[in-house]
Amino acid sequence: MDNFLWWRDGVIYQIYPRSFADSNGDGLGDLDGIISHLDYLEDLGIDAIWLSPIYPTPDKDFGYDVSNYVDVDARFGTLEDFDRLVAETHQRGIRIILDLVLNHTSDQHPWFLESRSSRDNPKRDWYIWKDNPNNWQASFGGKAWEFDPGTGQFYLHLFTKEQPDVNWRNPEVRKAQLGVFRFWLERGVDGFRLDVFNAYFKDPDLADNPPKFGLRGFDRQRHIHDIDQPEMMPFLNEMRTLLDSYPERYVVGETYFATPQKTVSYCGPDKLHAAFSFDFTTFNSALAEAFQLYKWSPLWIMKQFILREQTFNAAGIWPTTVMSNHDLPRAASRYARGENDSQPFLAMALLLTLRGTPFLYFGEEIGMRDIHLRHSEILDPPGRKYWPIYTGRDGCRSPMQWDDSAFAGFSTVKPWLPVHPDYKWRNVATEQTDLNSLFNFTKKLLALRKENPALRRGDFIPLKTRGSMLAFLRRTHEQTVLVAMNFNNQSVNYNLPDGKWHILLSSAQSSPGSLAPFEIQISIRQ
Ligand code: NOJ
Repeated sequence: MDNFLWWRDGVIYQIYPRSFADSNGDGLGDLDGIISHLDYLEDLGIDAIWLSPIYPTPDKDFGYDVSNYVDVDARFGTLEDFDRLVAETHQRGIRIILDLVLNHTSDQHPWFLESRSSRDNPKRDWYIWKDNPNNWQASFGGKAWEFDPGTGQFYLHLFTKEQPDVNWRNPEVRKAQLGVFRFWLERGVDGFRLDVFNAYFKDPDLADNPPKFGLRGFDRQRHIHDIDQPEMMPFLNEMRTLLDSYPERYVVGETYFATPQKTVSYCGPDKLHAAFSFDFTTFNSALAEAFQLYKWSPLWIMKQFILREQTFNAAGIWPTTVMSNHDLPRAASRYARGENDSQPFLAMALLLTLRGTPFLYFGEEIGMRDIHLRHSEILDPPGRKYWPIYTGRDGCRSPMQWDDSAFAGFSTVKPWLPVHPDYKWRNVATEQTDLNSLFNFTKKLLALRKENPALRRGDFIPLKTRGSMLAFLRRTHEQTVLVAMNFNNQSVNYNLPDGKWHILLSSAQSSPGSLAPFEIQISIRQ
């Protein structure tokens, strides 16, 4: 494969470690559990894994509150287990990316324990302390400032009060955080996903945010002073220089409420390689959000994608595609009625054929659905806070469904979150034996991407189609591939672009130029 660059041409599979596989029978996934399924991932055909946080954590935000950046939580394993995981992953030609949560620590991190111990502690300025709070809101609800009775000041937290924001303006903090990158690079990791990186720097005067219309307190402000500060850029340069001193490393940023223009401005040869754009997972109004109305129609998808192409292409930045992750209802739950997989097939086809690096969320390949929890079962902090308006993110974090044995083969004991009741028939083992399953479709599509450069790197050319259809070309000098999809339960005929077309993959075996209900057809010009 000429010029195959893993993070641009490959597919990145997100593992939420506590829900992937439990090897030691404590109901929580772990590193050994991941190791035991690396053959599965190799066979599926992905190129890299991204692990959500594996560091020691008091679990106030399920790992996104880190109490030690340079260790592994004992419930997941040890640093030696991690080294084994890296070696085993690399042996299979798979890369490994870690999630770095550097905007905030846990309030149990030794840095914060020191910082809050007295006003003149040398680490006092490692966090953001103030006598009088400004108007900033925490995105998980309530004010962004918590009073510390011990020292009589307020500290800033953009998420839960157990996640104090570090002070990135302090040079010692920057040095320490770069040390975290170095620590994991030296252990052989291939890259990082940076949690809410564009929130690292805050306005130096901590000025109030101006108001705007919105439902929750957090949405009733324009976030111009708490995120997206210009000081981010020199840090990105510094960090990239460090990464580039190792071969083929990668860093992708999780943009936090950034416009597409802002998002691309953080990427480039001396900044991030990529930053997420959540084109298919956001609502287009506060009202739509209140009613959880996700848009999903060929016209809308095309519009979103063309808009994204305009921004990313113009800036020469390679895009990423995300349909599901650990913060959102799964795409299969957003778009499908019940257990019907027509829409999840379409979502998977888009994820793997649009221009950009696909991020595949564990279980997406078998069409896993969100679990429903009673109020008393909810664990996620914003879910507990906003129930019943918002029920939180536990739904998409339920255990991986490996087979039809007790607890879906995830664990031998009751897992930390319930297994989805459909696991008896929706599981890896069952779908592997069904040639028409979403699993096998995904696997074939992943193989097709490997074989056809146009699907990985080709230009994107939208085609004009009827309402229920969506079609586009992916084109390189050598190849032209046509992707055609029918979003409706009626068959449709369409005009093929000039040339002779050979079908590479179809979900319903129609001939070129016609599509059965919900069919996806991928053809190559001969
Ligand atoms: C974004 C992460 O994806 C989310 O899971 C987490 O709660 C917040 N950042 C805070 O770290």
